[in-house]
Amino acid sequence: MERLQKILQKAGVASRRKAEVWIAEGKVSVDGVVVTDLGVKVSPQAEVRVMGELLKREAMVYYILNKPPGYVSTTSDPLGRKTLMDLIPVQQRIFPVGRLDYDTSGLVLLTNDGDFMNRLLHPRYKIEKEYHVKVEGLLRKEESQRLTRGMDLGDFVSQPAKIIEVRYDDKKVNTYVKIIITEGKYHQIKRMFEAINHPILKLKRYRLGNITIEDLGIGQYRALKPHELKLIWNLSAFGKDGKND
Ligand code: URA
Repeated sequence: MERLQKILQKAGVASRRKAEVWIAEGKVSVDGVVVTDLGVKVSPQAEVRVMGELLKREAMVYYILNKPPGYVSTTSDPLGRKTLMDLIPVQQRIFPVGRLDYDTSGLVLLTNDGDFMNRLLHPRYKIEKEYHVKVEGLLRKEESQRLTRGMDLGDFVSQPAKIIEVRYDDKKVNTYVKIIITEGKYHQIKRMFEAINHPILKLKRYRLGNITIEDLGIGQYRALKPHELKLIWNLSAFGKDGKND
């Protein structure tokens, strides 16, 4: 349910202020009834008319994609590289919520809901992001402790990360790490591992809040399920477990 003035603004027919004037002047109807009260909330299915004309209300869509490496996380690319839009052929104009690097794979959320996007990207909302990383060299305990304590990366100090799994490939001298951070600074994971002299060989985002890509093959996408959407919205509002405490 949303306020009428917001619906008019979102549909791009008027600014919020102008919409309020129209509503007060009796120019807007909902399901055939003129509404002049600015506090009224309207369901997504309601038929809204402005001066008799039916308002086209774009349905909000939410997708997750398992991005392969070799795609840019934008909707178009001046260099002509492949973009996320080559993977999600939907009609709505959708945008990724945050970006993965060209060579990074994994979970990207895409939507046409600007409010949702702004909320998720706001640094205040600490949504967990789990990355699966393959790095050069064997990660030592003191080095992983630098990640989990938080580290000075020059222009910012990273929040303490959580490491949930470390596996060594002694033969190839690589380490596989599952790491969780709650920030999303530019190249953050790469910079954190570079700072401890373990350059990244492979990087995949596996989870965002309560959503994972475990059911998606590489390059596949699906709509978010209503309960996932609800939970991630709550997570962005309240913190770790989605509860207001
Ligand atoms: N951290 C990075 O360095 N790159 C990404 O694509 C995502 C997180």
